[in-house]
Amino acid sequence: MKKPFWTDAVVYQIYPRSFCDSNGDGIGDIPGIISKLDYLKDLGVDILWLSPIYESPQFDIGYDISDYYKINPEYGTMEDFDRLLEEAKKRGIRIVMDLVANHTSDQHPWFKASKDKNSPYHDYYVWMDGKDGGKRPPNNWTSNFTGPAWTYVPEVGQWYLHIFSAEQPDLNWKNPKVLEEVENIIRFYLDKGVYGFRCDVINQIWKDSYEDSKRITPMARGNEFYLMKEGNHRMLRKIYDDVLSHYDDFVMIGETYNVDLENGKRFQENKELTMFFQFELANVRAFALPVFERPFSAKRFKEVAFKWQKAIEWPTNYLENHDQRRSINKFGDPKRYWKESGKALALFNLTLRGTPFVYQGEEIGMLDLPPRDPATSMDCSARMTNQLMTKMGFVKGLRKKMINLFDRDHARSPMQWNDGISAGFSSNENTWICANPNKNCINVALEEKDPDSILSFYRTLLAYRRKSPALQEGSFLEIETKGDLIAYRRKLGDEEILILLNLTKKKLRLPPFLRSIEGKLALSTREPGDDPTVLLPYEGRLIELA
Ligand code: NOJ
Ligand code: CA
Repeated sequence: MKKPFWTDAVVYQIYPRSFCDSNGDGIGDIPGIISKLDYLKDLGVDILWLSPIYESPQFDIGYDISDYYKINPEYGTMEDFDRLLEEAKKRGIRIVMDLVANHTSDQHPWFKASKDKNSPYHDYYVWMDGKDGGKRPPNNWTSNFTGPAWTYVPEVGQWYLHIFSAEQPDLNWKNPKVLEEVENIIRFYLDKGVYGFRCDVINQIWKDSYEDSKRITPMARGNEFYLMKEGNHRMLRKIYDDVLSHYDDFVMIGETYNVDLENGKRFQENKELTMFFQFELANVRAFALPVFERPFSAKRFKEVAFKWQKAIEWPTNYLENHDQRRSINKFGDPKRYWKESGKALALFNLTLRGTPFVYQGEEIGMLDLPPRDPATSMDCSARMTNQLMTKMGFVKGLRKKMINLFDRDHARSPMQWNDGISAGFSSNENTWICANPNKNCINVALEEKDPDSILSFYRTLLAYRRKSPALQEGSFLEIETKGDLIAYRRKLGDEEILILLNLTKKKLRLPPFLRSIEGKLALSTREPGDDPTVLLPYEGRLIELA
């Protein structure tokens, strides 16, 4: 059997609103993406995942869809999209769409029609009577974006469920019509030549029951009734049987919030999903609430990453996306060791077993925005949390500090192409979200000129990976080390690669058994020091073993 395309592929995530603006309206668009395909080809990526580009009121920047069959006019037309598919194909690049199927926009015609209790669309969503004669929500669940997970609509006399904002009503997957609609959307795009989907919060589509939650978690209370239920597995398998199994090669990449090993394995082994994102590594610094974080520990980082590497047959690796802060800010050192830590994180992400994902700007070491007033954030969840904290009496300084830890604007600022107006993202200086003021020091044009840059390192490493079956498909072999040192091997047939990595600001001495290993240093994140038995801060080595 032919190997599926995704096995050796590297995925690059594009956040279309912030990638490249072709017509100067301050908003990224599809022609902008097309104009950068050669850059992406040179970088060495194979699949582009586009965050949602469908028609949408953009309350949650496209994760609130009002028409699955239309392109958001700000981004272009269906003809533009077809041209993107064609131009990408010419370069051997495939396109993955974002499938948001847990909810729609409240502006979707289905939702508007659902307000009529006699309409067949009423049952497309979760409408329920409230408690206490209808005055209180049907249960005590809270939304992921703060506040109750229910909104009352007087004209209907009922409440509707929304696990995210009120602008994102949840679909009712117990209605077979909903499954049918989603299957039609999938078919439509696969038939157009799309390679597959990244499936938004796909492990919470099935709600088992609508009881009160007994848990005291302040956010997402109620998710014991809708996270990874049997019905969820059943729906995904049905989509495979009904639709996907009729296609030759495709990907279904699950965004599986707080997935555990058991469910993750099941999603994959039962063909419910091709790959899935785990959240444990991205959240390795989180406390119970996202507004707190603990210091970075390379040891903990290693333990979590290795746990998934060892347990999952084909892992999905990422350090950044549009919901996370920039990885150098979270796991590296944005000041003293910006370049070294950017390369060290790349070495890690791109040499683990599985499919690696690179988020736009990660390849040039883009950083978080400077701390800002959450009231002016473009991120609806940051704004909503700010409103809640204001109500609760938090002073502004504290709100700013805490929300800054998860404000999703950080990773959504315009891609920094050069040091010109709006970082070369747009000819307009009023962009939908401001460019990072560090654009003069961090941008593609500068990185391209410098053979020692983070971008050059990505290009070299991705080219290396392409020629290395051990990195692409080899086994992952942990090397047990105490403390912060990260060490592992990748092996396939005769080819064996050793990775040694220091993700700390201090020097790390190699243990005796690693000092005597013979091999050829093929790539490194920085010039080694005089003593080869010591890894300098953020030094990473890729060694070909004899
Ligand atoms: C996960 C997406 O990545 C995020 O951006 C969005 O806000 C939620 N799902 C809701 O769709
Ligand atoms: Ca534009």
